[in-house]
Amino acid sequence: MAKLTRFGISIDSDLLKKFDSLISNENYSNRSEAIRDLIRDRLVEEEWAGNEIVAGAILMVYNHHTRGLSGKLTDIQHDHGDTVISTHHIHIDHHNCMEILAVKGKAKEIVALHNKLKSVKGVKHCELSKATVGKKV
Ligand code: NI
Repeated sequence: MAKLTRFGISIDSDLLKKFDSLISNENYSNRSEAIRDLIRDRLVEEEWAGNEIVAGAILMVYNHHTRGLSGKLTDIQHDHGDTVISTHHIHIDHHNCMEILAVKGKAKEIVALHNKLKSVKGVKHCELSKATVGKKV
């Protein structure tokens, strides 16, 4: 672990009250860890914006009875075989499936894959959770 550096922050007291209330609701025990997480979140955003190698998850829900839908979604995943590193399929009920794709690769490729999947007719929900490979944060 890198050495710790202390630094001071000047901040509007009303803004600090709001921040303390927010992090208390999120179960942080002190400001330092909350601020570190904010910085890390911002750095991860930059990795995505800079089209770096990133990791993440795509979660989608669809009705597998919709004609041709499962095949279409599988075709798209095969077209992005280098990006999709793992899939997890859950049968939610008789009609609905949930699929979680673990993805890793260039940010733009992952976003393109997400856009292709979510725009397929019959997909009820499709979200991208943006994470990091952890080298820079
Ligand atoms: Ni299923």
